[in-house]
Amino acid sequence: MNTIDAIQSRRAVKQFDVDHRMTAEEVERILSLAILSPTAFNLQNWRFVVVNDPELRKKIRAVSWDQSQVTDTSLFVILCADLKAWDKGPGRYWANAPQEVQDFMLPAIDAYYRDKPQVQRDEAMRSCGIVAQTLMLVARSMGYESCPMDGFDFEKVGELINLPDDHVIAMYVAIGKGTKEPWPRPGQLGLDDVVIKNSFAQ
Ligand SMILES: Cc1cc2nc3c(=O)[nH]c(=O)nc-3n(C[C@H](O)[C@H](O)[C@H](O)COP(=O)(O)O)c2cc1C
Repeated sequence: MNTIDAIQSRRAVKQFDVDHRMTAEEVERILSLAILSPTAFNLQNWRFVVVNDPELRKKIRAVSWDQSQVTDTSLFVILCADLKAWDKGPGRYWANAPQEVQDFMLPAIDAYYRDKPQVQRDEAMRSCGIVAQTLMLVARSMGYESCPMDGFDFEKVGELINLPDDHVIAMYVAIGKGTKEPWPRPGQLGLDDVVIKNSFAQ
């Protein structure tokens, strides 16, 4: 499937085949393609909590508006981010770059994020949003359906997965074999509604 077909056929699917099992190779393929997604300063600040334990999935579903995607998908990922990735050995993000690039990047990373909690959080959400779309498009191109989700109690899910203090949860991406066609796209805006030419009207 080419990229345009994957984009056009990706939908937020709600019903999944609970008995379908992905192979370890499929899971590895999806995740290893996802981590080629871009991140600012190459921070790779996403963290993928892959929940396989059925009991834990049930508990998560109970604090996720009882949404069945949580228990019924073959690959259920809680997309988290490390807010302090910029401060945790940032040399490794540029280890293979020429020395002059490393010399520029490391101080620039520090200056961009240090003492700026809002910037750190914004970056986490940007990274997770982009990688979420990659996950969904890879899944689609492998014949799977997916659902991005933020309908859940973030605090309770954080407790269930022992989320570290310096991490945040961005959203879920649930992937599996769809069993029911989604309804037609419910209300797509036109380009005229969303594209602004040069600047917003005064
Ligand atoms: C950040 C985000 C959170 C979402 N949360 C949920 C959710 O909790 N449950 C759900 O069924 N759909 C959820 N959706 C799916 C949206 O409702 C869906 O993407 C939107 O209606 C457009 O439909 P489409 O993805 O099929 O084009 C979410 C989508 C996004 C991007």
